[in-house]
Amino acid sequence: QDLVVAIDGPSGSGKSTVARRVAAALGLRYLDTGAMYRAVTWWALEQGVDLADTERVAQLARELPLELGTDPAAPTVAVAGTDIAAAIRTSRISAAVSAIATNLGVRAELVARQQAVAREGGVVIEGRDITTVVAPDAPVRVLLTADERVRLSRRALEVHGSDDETAVDATRDQVVRRDADDATVASFHEAADGVDVVDSSLLSLDETVDAVLKLVEA
Ligand code: CDP
Repeated sequence: QDLVVAIDGPSGSGKSTVARRVAAALGLRYLDTGAMYRAVTWWALEQGVDLADTERVAQLARELPLELGTDPAAPTVAVAGTDIAAAIRTSRISAAVSAIATNLGVRAELVARQQAVAREGGVVIEGRDITTVVAPDAPVRVLLTADERVRLSRRALEVHGSDDETAVDATRDQVVRRDADDATVASFHEAADGVDVVDSSLLSLDETVDAVLKLVEA
């Protein structure tokens, strides 16, 4: 199996869940590139490095002893043997990650690592620039979108366990700001040439997974 499936999408588009399900269905590995940007962020904060010191942060990224488990049934994230899967999902990391993602030295390093995985093949890779930068030649490239309202409510459920107004409001600030910050690096909301768009706003998880699997069969 040397198939590469590239999936991009904004926050709350469901891309992580969908990518894992697609990988499991096809017997492929799963690579969460967002976890890599989050891991660099965690490591930089852990080391007390000034995130504005771009050269220093890029150096940290190059030295990061990151271990990613690519089994879609149980993906893992560790740095030097320490499990950081939960630590990288905190709001502290989410608030700081855009500063890391806009660091071009960091991007060069992480994109190179991701391309090494893509070259091995047999993987579903998920992120923001996979269809355009990391694996523009992948045979299957998908942009997963959803209306902002739907994305906010999904993210609120994930982070706060509820999608009532208070939870959605709390989520809105973070997600909308991060989307805007991320957009300074690349236009993550538009499909590049040859990229198929799957809008999950009105689809269940199963329907979204099926829509992506159909693109793989096509
Ligand atoms: O939590 P969410 O699904 O929105 O994001 P994530 O996939 O965990 O990615 C976290 C952050 O990493 C994004 O907000 C981007 O700043 C950055 N990122 C990126 O720049 N390029 C990627 N290929 C993946 C993530």
